[in-house]
Amino acid sequence: MWLVAVSVAAMTAFTIAWVAGFGDQNVPDNTYRTPPAAFQQQVDEFTQKYLGDDGKVHVPPGEDAYLMAQRYGFTPELVLEAGNEYTIWMSSRDVLHGFSLIGDNLNLNLEIVPGHALALTLKAEKAGTYLVICNEYCGLQHHLMRGHIIVEE
Ligand code: CUA
Repeated sequence: MWLVAVSVAAMTAFTIAWVAGFGDQNVPDNTYRTPPAAFQQQVDEFTQKYLGDDGKVHVPPGEDAYLMAQRYGFTPELVLEAGNEYTIWMSSRDVLHGFSLIGDNLNLNLEIVPGHALALTLKAEKAGTYLVICNEYCGLQHHLMRGHIIVEE
């Protein structure tokens, strides 16, 4: 029994220390509830405003970006400027999706929940094309669900 008690105490202490000391790397900065259709409208308005001839959305520094996860992709494709901090609002049109992005100084892993928008603040220092993958099983084509965030100098 004492072994169980010691183990539980150690795990509890570790969990508390982890959350207190290291728990801020993946927490969204802000969230709100939104029906998927309403968020889609925000995404569409944002897309129309900044859509370039290349079919990608060029986000001016200081502007919030909007990204929709939907079986099986992320829209629109965002182009950001290196060295600037951006707030990206995300939500899902249909089911639970993942948003995983690794590269440069970024290591992000979030869940995108329908009915909720979350804000992610990110700043890429290096230009490049960053792969976004869905890491939450969302249907038969889940393994093909990916997107890109492009960072330009
Ligand atoms: Cu979306 Cu898996």
